[in-house]
Amino acid sequence: MMEIKFIICNDYDEMSHRAAEIFAAQIKENPESVLGLATGSTPVGMYSELASMGLDFSRIKSVNLDEYYPISPKNENSYRYFMNENLFSKVNININNTYVPNGEAADAEKECREYDALIDRLGGIDLQVLGIGPNGHIGFNEPDTELFAGTHVTSLTLSTVEANSRFFSSVDEVPKKAITMGMSSILSAKKIVLLISGKNKHAALKALLDDKITPAVPATFLKLHRDVTVICDKAAYEG
Ligand code: F6R
Repeated sequence: MMEIKFIICNDYDEMSHRAAEIFAAQIKENPESVLGLATGSTPVGMYSELASMGLDFSRIKSVNLDEYYPISPKNENSYRYFMNENLFSKVNININNTYVPNGEAADAEKECREYDALIDRLGGIDLQVLGIGPNGHIGFNEPDTELFAGTHVTSLTLSTVEANSRFFSSVDEVPKKAITMGMSSILSAKKIVLLISGKNKHAALKALLDDKITPAVPATFLKLHRDVTVICDKAAYEG
């Protein structure tokens, strides 16, 4: 049986520290690694710790999971902006080696096909960090009766729009669509680290503990992967 490994931490800071250690080890072991990155509140602590470790990012490449659509990279709520702020501007990564889906692409379908081709060209993702929605979404693969394998345009569920509205001045300003890597793109990563913090993620975490896989909770597909580590805090684990 392939089993998800769980690391239960006391709090958010310990979770961030454990995750940063895994990323640091990856970067040292292979300074040309392709890192799969996520945005949102959860990985902020990990990025800030990683940035303070003096690691050499000069040959690292990164691909982000998703981006709102449509959105300008200059918009402070765009995921491109988030990555520049929280990580890229703080380390010696070559910005030309950092990839986030283009929220301004005129042809979104073409952007999706090109994003998958790009991941292939890079040789796949060595280490992917994920957050999780309270509804069990990963990337923007929202609960549904069927999921997509490749990068695609998706509509955000009302609960995700509401959850993400905390960053915008009003719910109306949250883009209702996103470009996201699909399930196969995520599951093709060689190693996956899923970070889960806070009581409101307890139900999503619980769905990872049993043996069931369902598109109603997209993260349960991670049970099919050989190398997934969930790093969570007590609040998420105990609920
Ligand atoms: C972000 C992403 C999303 C978030 C999830 C949790 O790139 O792919 O799946 O990881 O919505 O967001 P936070 O961390 O803000 O609770």
